[in-house]
Amino acid sequence: MTALKYQKGTTTMKEKINVTDYANLITKAIPKGVLLNTNGDKFNTMIIGWGHLGTLWNRQTFHVYVRQGRYTKAQLDKTQEFTISIPLDKPDPTINKICGWQSGRDIDKVKEAGLELVDAETIHTPGIRQYPLTIECRVLYSQDQDLSKIPEDIREKTYPRDVDGTYPMANRDFHTMYVGEIVDAYIIK
Ligand SMILES: Cc1cc2nc3c(=O)[nH]c(=O)nc-3n(C[C@H](O)[C@H](O)[C@H](O)COP(=O)(O)O)c2cc1C
Repeated sequence: MTALKYQKGTTTMKEKINVTDYANLITKAIPKGVLLNTNGDKFNTMIIGWGHLGTLWNRQTFHVYVRQGRYTKAQLDKTQEFTISIPLDKPDPTINKICGWQSGRDIDKVKEAGLELVDAETIHTPGIRQYPLTIECRVLYSQDQDLSKIPEDIREKTYPRDVDGTYPMANRDFHTMYVGEIVDAYIIK
């Protein structure tokens, strides 16, 4: 366990983990919503329901898929790093509602959702105390999706051409895949 200074002045303990030991928990948590945190112009977070642990070029990785219009995308492109915050039990409905339906362009999600930030160990993007399983990543690779290669039924449902990219759910914007190399992982105590 490492003792770290919490940004509001109290001490935070972190238990280092091997993410593969938590693969089952992580895989089950993702479709219910986990947090993708960025720290560019300011700290921001958004819910993701798509993503996965992986291995690429012999590196341990976490892959996320972010639509073009998300504020998160602008931040990711700027900082090239992110943290993933995962609840150990059920997701908090208030956190999921605010962080999955509102944009950091319009609101301060830390304030609105009452998030408690905890400094990261290796990068500059904090984790979140309420969703304590934390994975720190540096972007290793990113790639825009090619809509023409997506099966038609999925394309029509997931990328409706008549819905503007500002809509929080399915809209016309394709995703960019970001492959993050995992540089640290722990549970905030
Ligand atoms: C359950 C759930 C899963 C979501 N998964 C994703 C996702 O994987 N990728 C994505 O781009 N948006 C996803 N969203 C939508 C974003 O969380 C939402 O648009 C958010 O407001 C974007 O915030 P931002 O503009 O501050 O980046 C999801 C929303 C919910 C509620």
